[in-house]
Amino acid sequence: MRLNVGIDGPVSAGKSSVADAVAARLGILHLDTGAMYRALGLTAVRRGIDVQDEEAIVRLCRELKVSVSHEADGQHTFVEGEDVTGLIRTPEVSMAASTVSRYADVRRNMVKIQQQLAAETDMVLDGRDICTTVLPNATAKIFLTASQEERARRRYLEMQAKGMNDTFEQVLEELKKRDDQDMNRPVEPLRQAPDAVLVDTTNLTFDEAVDAILKIVEANRHG
Ligand code: C5P
Repeated sequence: MRLNVGIDGPVSAGKSSVADAVAARLGILHLDTGAMYRALGLTAVRRGIDVQDEEAIVRLCRELKVSVSHEADGQHTFVEGEDVTGLIRTPEVSMAASTVSRYADVRRNMVKIQQQLAAETDMVLDGRDICTTVLPNATAKIFLTASQEERARRRYLEMQAKGMNDTFEQVLEELKKRDDQDMNRPVEPLRQAPDAVLVDTTNLTFDEAVDAILKIVEANRHG
């Protein structure tokens, strides 16, 4: 049986870093599915394609080869063979990713690639629709969240560490906008799968969050 762990949750709930640590402890790979939507968003921005233009974005998504590889320093994301890993974390690309991910044909395309990858290898996948759509039969399903203020605080500190100058208020505003867009889109909005376990990290340390998830995985593997 494949070991597939799904971790969904809103912006800056810590999914990616927690998923990384969980995967390392389990000795399996971590697929950051958000990076794939970001790669598409980045390409639209670079080519001057309006992200509101669904037809143009769907066409771009069909033509574009987005792929990932797993290296010693983590996941690398590629567009047509170009490593774009260092270019996809800007606020502009975040918003573009959130917008292009609203389109049903874009999602269908990305979900198919993610399902193929998960079928080939044991992995932890983090995203918005892993437990609801990509892997409804995952070994363990987690919904990772924290309060909006706490998520904004973490994101603010992360951006400061990277030398970005956004104020806390700007970060909170952007986070609210993305939460709203991700939770209220008509196609596969972010929601907790009925059988996913809620892990609220507002008052948990990083290690406590990782341990909580590992416990859930173990219970599901052997239970
Ligand atoms: O997780 P991350 O913030 O990198 O994702 C970027 C954007 O991609 C999210 O705001 C969300 O709109 C979209 N996304 C998605 N489904 C996923 C992963 C990400 O819709 N599985």
